[in-house]
Amino acid sequence: MNINRLLIIGLGLIGGSVALALKQAGSCQRVLGYDIKPDEVEAGLALGVIDEGSADTSVLPELVRAADIILIAVPVVRIQQVFAQIKPHVSAHTLITDVGSCKSSVYDAACAVWEVYPANLVLGHPIAGSEKSGVRAAKADLFDRHKVILTPVDANPRTAIEQITELWAACGAQVLCMQVKRHDEVLARTSHLPHLLAFSLVDTLARQDTSLDIFRYAAGGFRDFTRIAASDPQMWHDIFLANRDATLEALDEFTQGVAQLRTAVAQADSTALLSVFTRAKSAREHFSKILDHTAYSPMDTQNIRFQVTPGGQVTGNIRVPGDKSISHRSIMLGALAEGCTKISGFLEGEDSLATLQAFRDMGVSIDGPYAGQVTIQGVGLHGLKAPASALYLGNSGTSMRLLAGLLAAQTFDTELTGDTSLSKRPMGRVADPLRLMGAHIDTNEGGRPPLKIRGGQTLTGMDYVLPMASAQVKSCLLLAGLYAQGQTRVTEPAPTRDHTERMLQGFGYQVTREGASAQVEGGGCLSACEIDIPADISSATFFMVAACIAPGSDITLEHVGINPTRIGVINILKLMGADLELLNQKSVGGEPVADIRVRYAPLHGIDIPEDQVPLAIDEFPALFIAAACAQGTTRLRGAEELRVKESDRIQVMADGLTTLGIECQVYADGIDILGGHLQGGEVASHEDHRIAMSFTVAALRAQGQITIHDCANVATSFPGFVELARRAGIQVQAQTQA
Ligand code: S3P
Repeated sequence: MNINRLLIIGLGLIGGSVALALKQAGSCQRVLGYDIKPDEVEAGLALGVIDEGSADTSVLPELVRAADIILIAVPVVRIQQVFAQIKPHVSAHTLITDVGSCKSSVYDAACAVWEVYPANLVLGHPIAGSEKSGVRAAKADLFDRHKVILTPVDANPRTAIEQITELWAACGAQVLCMQVKRHDEVLARTSHLPHLLAFSLVDTLARQDTSLDIFRYAAGGFRDFTRIAASDPQMWHDIFLANRDATLEALDEFTQGVAQLRTAVAQADSTALLSVFTRAKSAREHFSKILDHTAYSPMDTQNIRFQVTPGGQVTGNIRVPGDKSISHRSIMLGALAEGCTKISGFLEGEDSLATLQAFRDMGVSIDGPYAGQVTIQGVGLHGLKAPASALYLGNSGTSMRLLAGLLAAQTFDTELTGDTSLSKRPMGRVADPLRLMGAHIDTNEGGRPPLKIRGGQTLTGMDYVLPMASAQVKSCLLLAGLYAQGQTRVTEPAPTRDHTERMLQGFGYQVTREGASAQVEGGGCLSACEIDIPADISSATFFMVAACIAPGSDITLEHVGINPTRIGVINILKLMGADLELLNQKSVGGEPVADIRVRYAPLHGIDIPEDQVPLAIDEFPALFIAAACAQGTTRLRGAEELRVKESDRIQVMADGLTTLGIECQVYADGIDILGGHLQGGEVASHEDHRIAMSFTVAALRAQGQITIHDCANVATSFPGFVELARRAGIQVQAQTQA
């Protein structure tokens, strides 16, 4: 970026800091300044912030004509006047931008002055500042790594938006774009409301007789909360008047929250207090992680690429994170139980955290997770409260499908939403049978999310034969059955994971299991218990396959859940010739666990028995890598369900394997893979965690480096995968994707 002449109108902290930052970056030849206060102009010149300037209105037209870019940094209430002053002198080639804290009023001001919104005006707002004001407080690094929100409109050409983006990038800022109205709604909540509260609290306390004492003894909390009450009163006065509607909305929401807390304190309502405080604490912690760039969810802003160096072997003893399916269920049943449930080994992955957050949003007090420990104060089957807004479930199909069953029976309405991938997944498979039970659920076209669930419906038990082998659908209906009149019986075409049935029994709820059917009777209750979650066999799979394909490997995976409905991967690998043994077998809280030792042994292709498909449903991407390294052909059929997982796992794996030089033939319900030599190459994970991890493992046997794109979603099921994989011997590096 090279600006010939930049004119800054309004030489305050922000205007002055832009000038200093651009000068320091060498991005501007000459800075012109205009301010109605001669003192600010003189200070700007003396400090070298501007190269020439004036406080004389008659000089302004000349400055405007000389500028390539005009940055208006005056208080929002004065912007319209400045627009009117510059309008007669500004050419269509001169770019104009501003730094106002509210955008609707500036947008309206521009329309009022120009009649038609000018194409060369790109509005912006740097989210940076300090309680100090004036050009003397200006700092070259004020915007360094801060966000700047631009609110471009249709009238703005792309080049204009790009140039203003470059201006802020040269100041070290990260630029985001938002719509005008959305900007004002967001800022009302994140900036304007906190300022109002700080002003109000300090003012209220200062008016009390004992104020002197209060201030003398005020400790950290008061200091932290009220720092911004020292901000410029005039500026904030202007902002509240300019962003009146959005601020009032935010203030009303807040007032309601405070009123609820007041009632909770007055009535000594521990559940209500703890539920608000734990929810706020976890939200604040999540926010801190975002600020430190260590949030579980970097997917929104940046993605990650895995770069894996070929070769190596896996060795040692490792424990992979907790079982995802059991983690989801432990939160659900713990929340609905009577009493306090303590969980250990909880999976701190995006998906199970989405379930946890959903229950916090419905008023359940949940402490943790701290190193896998979670404590839930159960509210009973009828104690959930209406969430304030839609429940966002990220990437997690299990959360959405199981919650649909529970929520169909509540007295309040709910809406379930998810990320782009989840929004494409079929939910008719749960909505249809729930409707047969009396639920009222609206979906998008084709039964896709969001699910809008109407509360206050009476559910009636039913006898339902699942059209597909799905533990999620089975669990959804059993959970709805807890609330239904009479019995709910679900029969499955093939055995699927039975964690819901086992855990319900662990919570003291009777489940009758006969052959392929499981049955519950509505109207019972759940009693809190302790849950020790074993390591997830689906996550352990990546290391099992790694050891099977990499000569010299010898790895032991500790404390892995080996529920018979989950061990398809062990059965299939053994059929392919794997050297795999189960050690230290025991039962933990109703779930069998073992240490799994796997040593390298050459594999051969097999026809995968169809009855193993539901028992290994999440493990196929990794098993396809085993097949690619095996001698001969591996054939899979009866696995059409793989096409509706986080990605179309048949096609996406086939595409990646083909790129790596492996021959495969795709079928509607399966694939044939001819074992061969894996080449290096670049593959797409389609933001599917299991695809990303499978191709990472493939590099152990590849002849060149493998690069896998869009891997941030690995955090949904396996936080810490890269570190653990490296410890075991896989040479993988995670890099931030541009
Ligand atoms: C799960 C069931 C399976 C599995 C998913 C978790 C569960 O889905 O793929 O990762 O926890 O019930 P389906 O029920 O759709 O097969």
